[in-house]
Amino acid sequence: MNGKFVTLEGCEGVGKSTQLRFLKEYLERENVPAVFTREPGGTPLAERIRSVLLDDRLEISPEAEAELFATARRDHIDNFIFPALDSGKLVVCDRYIDSSLAYQGFGRGLGIEKVLEFNRYAVNKCMPDLTVFIDMDPLRSFRTLSGKKIEHDRIETENPAFHAACYRGFKTIEKMFPGRFRAIVPEADKYATHLKIVDALIGGGVL
Ligand code: TYD
Repeated sequence: MNGKFVTLEGCEGVGKSTQLRFLKEYLERENVPAVFTREPGGTPLAERIRSVLLDDRLEISPEAEAELFATARRDHIDNFIFPALDSGKLVVCDRYIDSSLAYQGFGRGLGIEKVLEFNRYAVNKCMPDLTVFIDMDPLRSFRTLSGKKIEHDRIETENPAFHAACYRGFKTIEKMFPGRFRAIVPEADKYATHLKIVDALIGGGVL
């Protein structure tokens, strides 16, 4: 594969969307051929699975939930991520396997091993070159979120203990994958956070 694969992770309401927008503008200014995508989603099938996963009228078991995320991911890898990497693009993905490890592994309590097993294809064939984790405790970011968002999906509406467990999950993953996983502590100034992310991409050898 000629391209590089970058993922952006974080708990709810940490400002990922703003940072993705800043990064997109930066890469355009720098003429870096890049595509932006998201999980769950990124292909027609994965977007359909997304609407099931986020539908708060459905009850889904933790195992089924983890497998649905993994299935959406497999389709996304085969039909979007691989072709883009093959054509030499920088692929930037809003959430990826670390969200499964944190949310399903820790939030739902399935454990890392089981979630890695469900995601064997991604683990063996398509791990990110670099993962930037916006390191903010969800207890802090939730205050912002509840002030801003009107609709909440099936996972966002989980209780604070669930989100605290997801955060602990990300902190554990940070220790498991020190090579590719870079934690960024966000600044009050969003642009300063953006500069930290650009530094991480340069330092991580993807730019
Ligand atoms: P989204 O609206 O994209 O959340 P955000 O704006 O916070 O990124 O919804 C995705 C939700 O799915 C989010 O709550 C995290 C969750 N998720 C998992 O639980 N496991 C996964 O593997 C992925 C990719 C996301």
